[in-house]
Amino acid sequence: MANPPSDALLSDLQTLLGPRGFSRDPADLEPWLTDWRGRYRGVARALLSPSTVAEVQAIVGRCADSGVGLVPQGGNTSMVGGATPPAGGEALLLSLRRMSSIRSVSESDNMLVAEAGVVLSRVHEAAQGIGRRFPLSLAAKGSATVGGLVSTNAGGTQVLRFGPMRSLVLGLEAVLPDGSLYEELSALRKDNRGYDLRQLLVGAEGTLGIVTAASLRLVASPGSSAVAWAGLESPEAALTLLRRLEARTGDAVESFELVPANALDLVLRRIAGTRAPLAAPHAWNVLIEAVAPHGAAPAAETLQDALVEAVEQGLVLDAAIATSQAQAEALWRLRESVSEAERLDGPALKHDISVPVSAMPRFIEEARTAVERRFPGARVIAFGHLGDGNVHFNVQAPSGAAADRWLEEEGSAASSMVYDMVIAASGSISAEHGIGQMKREVFLRTSPPARLDAQRAIKQALDPLGIMNPGKLFD
Ligand code: MLT
Ligand code: ZN
Repeated sequence: MANPPSDALLSDLQTLLGPRGFSRDPADLEPWLTDWRGRYRGVARALLSPSTVAEVQAIVGRCADSGVGLVPQGGNTSMVGGATPPAGGEALLLSLRRMSSIRSVSESDNMLVAEAGVVLSRVHEAAQGIGRRFPLSLAAKGSATVGGLVSTNAGGTQVLRFGPMRSLVLGLEAVLPDGSLYEELSALRKDNRGYDLRQLLVGAEGTLGIVTAASLRLVASPGSSAVAWAGLESPEAALTLLRRLEARTGDAVESFELVPANALDLVLRRIAGTRAPLAAPHAWNVLIEAVAPHGAAPAAETLQDALVEAVEQGLVLDAAIATSQAQAEALWRLRESVSEAERLDGPALKHDISVPVSAMPRFIEEARTAVERRFPGARVIAFGHLGDGNVHFNVQAPSGAAADRWLEEEGSAASSMVYDMVIAASGSISAEHGIGQMKREVFLRTSPPARLDAQRAIKQALDPLGIMNPGKLFD
């Protein structure tokens, strides 16, 4: 259990960080005490904003000496309250946002080194600057930062081809809980010196150390890309389509995102400037992005041929291919706005879950029927990364004035029901959003003992005082 910071520690940190790096002004702290969905609110005794690795080391060293908790924060876009300080008010908020330089971009190593506070869209731009790209994208790309993406092993809409953050982090720099520096940014492609600490820190949610910089893998820019929207009868049909497209394009399908009719309907109603992508609504839709290398047939041609064939075979009911960048962006906007539309529509239970890909179509149908039968009025919206075996299986409360009461009275039973079905299908209760504060209970309840014991032992060994992001994952 972490200690409250003493006045002496606070004044020491103030001297260390100066006026730009230290604040106790409630107005400076306010925007960072609540998660973006407004579900968690915490208290922090001060906001620390270091601008160098040495400052982060000094902060962690001093907090370790006095057993004071630190809550690292980047863009504050966690879906599970992972970056919100605890409600108890004894921790210090450690913002990495001032550490925002891109230290190097290397064509020959095919990588760039970015500090923790660099926003994802800047990583994209820097990679484009040398004719390459960083193949991870998500709706929060304008605010999510490298440190948070690494610490949550972020996924997003291109995992299908390039994997999550874990497969794109070549090297890391992090301050460990005793203030020492883990410095392995050199990005060796091969390195078998014992345990892989880098991979341990990826996805650790800030509970084992503070990520200060990462070496990120870049990939070649495609010769062409194409974005399409297709209407289908079922998730089963969608999965069949995905496998056919992969065979046809030589595994060059980069995104394959499932959007049910109810999610599309919400977006069209709630998000200004959006338009229906097809002439008629369909029970299920997929957004597809495929690429082709330089010199090969354009991706749009291959995708068009494959979709025409799928329509002829009755697998796809209707489809449209974007013929301009603006159209491609409009299709992506429909998909990327689902979360925001849901948020605007009212309270919902969010379940970011995965099951084996082949089991997902059946899971969606069976779990939806079971939940809606047991909780009349509740509506399941299952959307997302079908090709990764990961959907956001969200349950909207019955509409109207009673929504909040429903969440209070029935929410935990509805979530337990979903999670129990996920475990029964050999799945995971957190596919890409992590555990944070929101999933601690279900994480403890549903994880196999050997998995929990090993994770607890690691936490105890590296952070015996429990000062790293207290209240997340484990106490
Ligand atoms: C998404 O895929 O849109 C995100 O993971 C956000 C969400 O779950 O709502
Ligand atoms: Zn997602």
